[in-house]
Amino acid sequence: MAGYVVVGTQWGDEGKGKIVDVLGEKVDYVVRFQGGNNAGHTVIVNGEKTVLHLLPSGVLHKQAKCIIGPGVVVDPFVLLDEMKVLEDRGVDVSHIYVSDCAHLIMPYHIKLDALQEERKGEKKIGTTKRGIGPCYADKYTRIGIRVGDLQDFDIFKEKLADTLAIKNEQIVKLYEEEPFDYDELIEKFKVVREKLLPRIIDSVVEVNKALDEDKFVLFEGAQAAMLDINYGTYPYVTSSSPTSAGVCVGAGVSPKKLDRIIGIVKAYSTRVGEGPFVSELLDEDGERIRSIGNEFGATTGRPRRCGWLDLNVVRHAAMINGLTDLVITKIDILSGFKKLPICVAYDIDGERYESIPASLDKMYRAKPIYEVMDGWSEDISKIRNYEELPLNCKNYLKRIEELTKTRISIVSVGPERSHNIYIHDIINK
Ligand code: GDP
Ligand code: IMO
Ligand code: MG
Repeated sequence: MAGYVVVGTQWGDEGKGKIVDVLGEKVDYVVRFQGGNNAGHTVIVNGEKTVLHLLPSGVLHKQAKCIIGPGVVVDPFVLLDEMKVLEDRGVDVSHIYVSDCAHLIMPYHIKLDALQEERKGEKKIGTTKRGIGPCYADKYTRIGIRVGDLQDFDIFKEKLADTLAIKNEQIVKLYEEEPFDYDELIEKFKVVREKLLPRIIDSVVEVNKALDEDKFVLFEGAQAAMLDINYGTYPYVTSSSPTSAGVCVGAGVSPKKLDRIIGIVKAYSTRVGEGPFVSELLDEDGERIRSIGNEFGATTGRPRRCGWLDLNVVRHAAMINGLTDLVITKIDILSGFKKLPICVAYDIDGERYESIPASLDKMYRAKPIYEVMDGWSEDISKIRNYEELPLNCKNYLKRIEELTKTRISIVSVGPERSHNIYIHDIINK
């Protein structure tokens, strides 16, 4: 069995897409298991940039079958557009499949996401407005429509009629907006259906069979631990479980089949959207990280909030995911800082916390307790051998290993597929 999981350990945008592409070269499958097109995963190969929202980041490797799994919420219009853009570029998209269990993000979900955010005013979550929350809400209220419902259009039509009646009532009565037209939606979905039908599969059987046959399956997380619906800074989170446990639920795979759980850690912290951020920098250091690190959202283009590395957060992620390996990304961006504070714990009302409190109030009151490391001035982006890294950079990495009790297997020193320092093998073929 060879099940590998890549997850984000902070607030997303750690470089999961890049690492999935790097590891994707060696695997037979890449499977998304949660989230939707709220994700923005960047892959850069020989200067050519691809930003993936729904498609698994293994898509550039022909041998890797790419599956959008059962726990994902799928905007079919985005899916088709994404495939078309790649196809127009000459990329093979014949290896992309979608689970019949995945739920469909409908146009009314996107509308409701925006309306709900607007209604919250200052208390808004700062969602990506892609309809993620409303779609998962319908799934759990049991009025959602699944990709597999497209296989029998009569079933799809009936489900849409039932759910649309509820949604339109909400849109018209609560928000005083125009209702969605049933016939128009049916026409749009007729077109979508034709294009998607050949790609709809029972992924649960296929992925389990692959694992039983010792094929290599890489599960690609979107978002990250601090955006987890249960263990993040609720309610400033997304609506899914972007953790290793989420793989079991969202791909239909037993925890016994997961061999290595790889946590992606950006060498500093960023967050998009609202919510507490203990090590946030609102000064020129934060500005500098944002501009050198080009910290602007891959999905919404919003400037990302920036701060020092928060190991209290990464330790939390290591615990809830059972991380076996870390990949450190964007450490090249820290070159030139004389001092590099690492947040190792929080001070909340005079008490030391080495965990993430559930109370949002406490999180807002938390003060970072820093350990200040010495920086390095060298450009490290061309280094490919661990030993050649500046001593202070190695010390920074060692401190991460010590405090998370997890080994670092890859250090990423640039956005390109080739910009890596390999320390331990993750995928042995
Ligand atoms: P994801 O959502 O976790 O896949 O991450 P994003 O793609 O949203 O954001 C990561 C950004 O950092 C992208 O622009 C990547 O091209 C870039 N990136 C990834 N790893 C590195 C690295 O080691 N160094 C630098 N300089 N950029 C990186
Ligand atoms: P990747 O996979 C960073 C954030 C949004 C918002 C909150 C809820 O690229 O790391 P949602 O639209 O999910 O209801 O928004 O979650 N968010 C992300 N932040 N990276 C992401 O994905 C994100 N996906 C959602 O900004 O704060
Ligand atoms: Mg991203």
